[in-house]
Amino acid sequence: MLVLGIETSCDDTATALVRDGRDVIASVSTNQDAFHAKYGGIVPEIASRQHVALLSAAVEDALGRAGATFDDVDALAVTRGPGLIGSLVVGVASAKALAFALDKPLYGVNHLHGHIFAAFLDRPEPPPYPFLTLLVSGGHSQLVNVESATRMTIVGRTHDDAAGEAYDKTARLLGIAYPGGPELDRMAQRGNPRAHAFPRHRPAGDSLDLSFSGLKTSVRYFLESDGGRNAKPEDVAASFQAAVVDVLMARLQAAFARRHYKAVVLSGGVAANSALQAALRNWSESNNVTAFIPPPRYCTDNAAMIAATAYHQRDATRVDPLTLSADPNLAFELDAVS
Ligand code: KG4
Ligand code: ZN
Repeated sequence: MLVLGIETSCDDTATALVRDGRDVIASVSTNQDAFHAKYGGIVPEIASRQHVALLSAAVEDALGRAGATFDDVDALAVTRGPGLIGSLVVGVASAKALAFALDKPLYGVNHLHGHIFAAFLDRPEPPPYPFLTLLVSGGHSQLVNVESATRMTIVGRTHDDAAGEAYDKTARLLGIAYPGGPELDRMAQRGNPRAHAFPRHRPAGDSLDLSFSGLKTSVRYFLESDGGRNAKPEDVAASFQAAVVDVLMARLQAAFARRHYKAVVLSGGVAANSALQAALRNWSESNNVTAFIPPPRYCTDNAAMIAATAYHQRDATRVDPLTLSADPNLAFELDAVS
């Protein structure tokens, strides 16, 4: 089954062709960072206009790279939420038009489910249910119990900032342009993670929840202090990163101890983080746990993960092309989706 995926939930205009939820035949992503960087964040109106300008070419590009035509495509998959409404409608409207014109089935996919199934792209193994996912992106940070392609429950979530948001805000304090996560990661690799002891949030009782706003505030106060003004930015970055990774790994281990899982999956933009990947790899190797850690190109937003998710969820998510709607607040659990 060859699926053409379209992802426009935020600021990446992405298309892909994926066979059987696994083999990525083509994956195209047009990054809009240059248009948003000077504003220090994503400007929704600019993002949706760029999607309008870029999407048709991105679809043609994916087909061209795959040496395929629309006739080869068996189904269309599009992100229907969560995300920026103006961005989502561009992808959804285009996918509906294509599905209608080509008379092919259309699947509306939850962006966060996409991040989870990204871990199985270009890998021989099918998803080993049940597995635990640590999903850390710019807008979400959560631990998800994945029982099947369509039965997933959030067992822990952030109370305030998402991990990626904490990265981007802290990067800004260090003078790094948006989105600062990847650059802060590179800077941290040149610093001492033990130089400064930033706080690690611990939830009350047996909660698996996360919180990063205290850490971000602590870095801000430190940078405004006399000691902070003279500190090496690389050391501040490394110490911040060590605190984020400690918190994420502590919650992941606590969740993993609660029940039997066959594997752990890392996903979302922050899954590209070098220290987080190393910590998870270390822990999984010493505890004999199978870990699925996607390569960076599948951690951040892409359309291959959307096409793959449509394949895995194909019995539950197919809709009539004329009735699919974008939903900026799309519920995570499929049972809750109307
Ligand atoms: O999943 P994603 O591409 O978009 C959302 O759905 O949010 O995640 C983007 C987030 C941004 O906050 C970005 O700074 C962060 O992922 N990110 C990283 C790294 N690469 C991307 N954070 C830390 N280290 C990285 N290497
Ligand atoms: Zn994302």
